[in-house]
Amino acid sequence: MKFSVLLALAAPSKVFSFMTSAKSMRPTNLHSQTKSTMNYIDGIQSISSTYDIFLLDMWGVMHNGSKPYEGVIETVQKLKEEGKKMIILSNSSKRVGNAHKMLKKLGFDENDFEQIITSGEISYRMLCGDETLQCSSWSTLTSLIREGKKKVFVFGSGDGDEDYVESSGWTLAPMEEADLIIARGTFTINNGDGNPVSKKDDEDGYFQVLNSVLEKAAERKVPMLVTNPDKVRPDEGLPPMPGAIGDTYEEKLGSGSQQFVKRIGKPFPEVYELALLGCEDPKRAVMIGDALETDVTGGTSFKTSTAWIVNDGIHSPFVQELGDGCFKTGTSKVIENFNDEKGHKEDSRLSPTYISKHFRWII
Ligand SMILES: *[C@@H]1O[C@H](CO)[C@@H](O)[C@H](O)[C@H]1NC(C)=O
Ligand SMILES: *[C@@H]1O[C@H](CO)[C@@H](O)[C@H](O)[C@H]1NC(C)=O
Repeated sequence: MKFSVLLALAAPSKVFSFMTSAKSMRPTNLHSQTKSTMNYIDGIQSISSTYDIFLLDMWGVMHNGSKPYEGVIETVQKLKEEGKKMIILSNSSKRVGNAHKMLKKLGFDENDFEQIITSGEISYRMLCGDETLQCSSWSTLTSLIREGKKKVFVFGSGDGDEDYVESSGWTLAPMEEADLIIARGTFTINNGDGNPVSKKDDEDGYFQVLNSVLEKAAERKVPMLVTNPDKVRPDEGLPPMPGAIGDTYEEKLGSGSQQFVKRIGKPFPEVYELALLGCEDPKRAVMIGDALETDVTGGTSFKTSTAWIVNDGIHSPFVQELGDGCFKTGTSKVIENFNDEKGHKEDSRLSPTYISKHFRWII
C-alpha cells in the first residue's frame, strides 16, 4: 500500500514503464525492425567468440538476491578460460567492497572479473572529488566541492549512510541548509540530527516526511545525486528504489530542472565510460542484462552489442503473461510495449542484439 503512495508521488507511467506491464498492453503489430534483428540464442557459447569484453549485470542475470542461477558459475569459468574480460556493472548504491563480499558469498571468484563497478562506488568517488576518476564529471558537484559547500541531506538505505557521506568528506544537514541531496535508498530519511526517519518503524510518517522535504528542496532547488537510478526492484513486492525519488523530485522542480538531478549508474554514461576505458571498439563488447531500461538501453547507447536475459529477470513475468506460453511472442510484445511507452519512433526503437532465456553457457 505504501508503495502506491510513492508511486503516486512519482509518475506511475515512468515508474512502471520499463516493466511493460500486461495491463498497459495495447494490440500492436510487430515492428518490422524489431522482428528482423531479433536473434534468439541458446546460451552464451554461441556468441563468445564474437566478443572480447563481457559487461555483466548481477541481479537478474547472475543471481536472484541469494543464490547464483543454474550454470552461471560455470559460464563465468568458461568465459575466463577463453580469455574474455568480464566487467560487472552493478546498480548498487553501496561501495564496491560490498559487491566483492556478495560475489564471494555466492561462490564466485572475484578475481575472475577485470573490474567491478557499482553506481555507489562511482558516486562515492565523485563525492570525494576524486580527480583520477576517468569519467565525465558533474559540474554542479565539482563546484560545490571547490567552494567547500559540503552539507548534505540523505535519503538512505539505513545501512551505513552516515559512514558513506562522512567518509567522503560531507556533513549531514537538514534540508534548510543542505547544499546537496543524496538519494541512495528508500528506507530512511537522514537530516543529521542523529534520529533518521525510518520506513520500517513508521511507513506513513516516512512518506509524509519524504513528500514535505522534497517540497522544501524544490523551493531551494537543491541539487540531487541519485546513486542508483533504478525505480523498482525485481523481487517480491517491488518496493520503490532511489530512481523513483529522483523522478518525483524532478516533477516537483518542474520543467527545465534536468541539471538539478544527476543519476549515476546504468543506463547513464559514467559507468559505461569507465567499463569501456581503453576499449577501442565497443563492438567487441556485449552487455548482458535483464532490464531493457537500464542494461539494454545503456549498452545500445554505448554501441556495444546487447544480450537480453529474459527468464530470470525483471521482465520475466510479463513475457510469460503476454506470450501465453510462447517465448518469442512474449519477448516481442514486451519489447514493443517498452518502445511504445517510451515513445521511441522508428529508428530509435530498442532492439537487443540477442535474446537468451538465461545467462548460461548452453541452455
Ligand atoms: C533464489 O534461488 C534459490 C534457489 O533456487 C531459492 O531457494 C530462493 O528462494 C531464491 N530467492 C529469491 C529471493 O527468489
Ligand atoms: C539494483 O541493486 C539493488 C541494490 O543492490 C537491488 O536491490 C536491486 O534489485 C537491483 N536491481 C536490479 C534491476 O538489478
